[in-house]
Amino acid sequence: MANLHQVLKNKIGFGTAPLGNMFREIPEAEALGTVEAAWNEGIRYFDTAPFYGAGLAESRLGEVLSGKNRDEYALSTKVGRLILDEEEEKGSGLFTHGRSNKIATDYTADATLRSIEESLARLKTDRLDFVFIHDTSRDFLGDEWVSKFDEARTGAFRVLARLQDEGVISGWGLGVNTTEPIELAMDMDGAAPTMSLSATQYTLLQHERALQRMMPAALEKGVGIVVGGPYNSGALLGGDYFDYAEIPPQIKERISRLTAIAGQHEVSLKAAALQFSTAHPAVAAVIPGSSRPERIAEDIAALQAPIPRAFWDELLGNQLISAQAPLPDGE
Ligand SMILES: NC(=O)c1ccc[n+]([C@@H]2O[C@H](COP(=O)([O-])OP(=O)(O)OC[C@H]3O[C@@H](n4cnc5c(N)ncnc54)[C@H](OP(=O)(O)O)[C@@H]3O)[C@@H](O)[C@H]2O)c1
Repeated sequence: MANLHQVLKNKIGFGTAPLGNMFREIPEAEALGTVEAAWNEGIRYFDTAPFYGAGLAESRLGEVLSGKNRDEYALSTKVGRLILDEEEEKGSGLFTHGRSNKIATDYTADATLRSIEESLARLKTDRLDFVFIHDTSRDFLGDEWVSKFDEARTGAFRVLARLQDEGVISGWGLGVNTTEPIELAMDMDGAAPTMSLSATQYTLLQHERALQRMMPAALEKGVGIVVGGPYNSGALLGGDYFDYAEIPPQIKERISRLTAIAGQHEVSLKAAALQFSTAHPAVAAVIPGSSRPERIAEDIAALQAPIPRAFWDELLGNQLISAQAPLPDGE
């Protein structure tokens, strides 16, 4: 079984949400080429989910990884959403261009086991390293998130804790875009997560709330945090979306200020984003996503690019990052 620390180079993995045709229809060759590029650049940790294009991202990832030695890489996917055979007209939304299968939200024990079996088939493998319970969170479920979290607590949590005890998986936790569910789970007795995926919440653009409770609790409990959405779904780098929605004016302004300071210090914002997220000792890995092969080398170079201390000091002076945030070692 792959241990994340053994397979990680420089704390970086690859996130496959874009490969589910998020926001656009990605030609098959481009999608498969992006995974190949990640492999060729030395990436050995891949995150995916049934939700990403209703199975499309998992199938594309499996297509490439099934040609690789399974002992050389770590894989995480998610539970909580079952892909049904029935099809539906997709309205607007994140994965309009993905497969047209209906998706059922279900965090029970039975659905968890079924979801894992179906993911294994799409991924063309016989094992997973990490499993995250997907989006038991207000942004997807509204007020119902509390009762759904409870369904997961008595369902998915117990199944995944048992699988970890039996040595079937290396770790498990939540995969969410808010901090509360991860915090809540870390406070619980009994089946408690050992690794969680926190998307969009410990980034250069947005980290105050995560620094208050989630990150200190993760350190205290020894729970590893995988940072998803390190560019807040692309907004930081000139993309059209902030946290998978329209970019609010105050975020646009923050990005302009960050861009100006980065320009003065000849620092790329991609480098600052990846190095900011990985500087926190609770962070096990950062997993930027992309749908284009050429981005991967850019990501790897960004993680290693020198960033002068004066850049971080100027962000601090302008209150663009928290004074409590651990910073990378400066030049
Ligand atoms: N709830 C959860 O569990 C959850 C939620 C969110 C994310 N995640 C995980 O975290 C991973 C990463 O998140 P993400 O992929 O959604 O967002 P992200 O990593 O913050 O940003 C990815 C976006 O940045 C764009 N980008 C990269 N380099 C760029 C450049 N130089 N110029 C302009 N745009 C650039 C990419 O566009 P291109 O496609 O054009 O390269 C892509 O749209 C996901 O893939 C998923 O594995 C998990």
